[in-house]
Amino acid sequence: MTISITCQVNGTNVSLDIEPRTTLVDALRQNLGLTGTHVGCAHGSCGACTVLLDDHAIRGCLMLAVQAQGHAITTIEGLSNPETLTPLQASFRKHGALQCGFCTPGMVVTAHAVLRDNPTASADEIRESMSGNLCRCTGYVTIVEAVLDARPAYQTPANQESPQ
Ligand code: FES
Ligand code: FES
Repeated sequence: MTISITCQVNGTNVSLDIEPRTTLVDALRQNLGLTGTHVGCAHGSCGACTVLLDDHAIRGCLMLAVQAQGHAITTIEGLSNPETLTPLQASFRKHGALQCGFCTPGMVVTAHAVLRDNPTASADEIRESMSGNLCRCTGYVTIVEAVLDARPAYQTPANQESPQ
């Protein structure tokens, strides 16, 4: 049995016929080919599957795709620019804030939401807001440094929606 839903993904209206048990992250990856969003623990602990739902950072593994009916989803692809790195991505590279990169899409999506809501976030605020995103190889010092360094890109009104 499948259920038909319509939602917006990265600014584009999409229709999906999907099994009720399919998680949002599986629908994004398998039905829409948006494999930038990763699946780590698949039970809400690691943050690798973080996407924006109506601009709120959520875990795609904890939400059923059918619950996205009528909502707007933004994935790491929607926060990226094919021409160049975004300021946040460039800052992650500058600070060496990744090794294997598995956690990075979730980190970047969460960091985007944090800085959009609080463009002057302190290191402690960034640590607390991103504490649900786990990295198994880099450690967190360089990640926090990268997010701190990206703050100016979010401090002008025109850039707060999606600095790309
Ligand atoms: S894969 Fe969703 S929180 Fe780990
Ligand atoms: S860079 Fe490998 S898990 Fe974070």
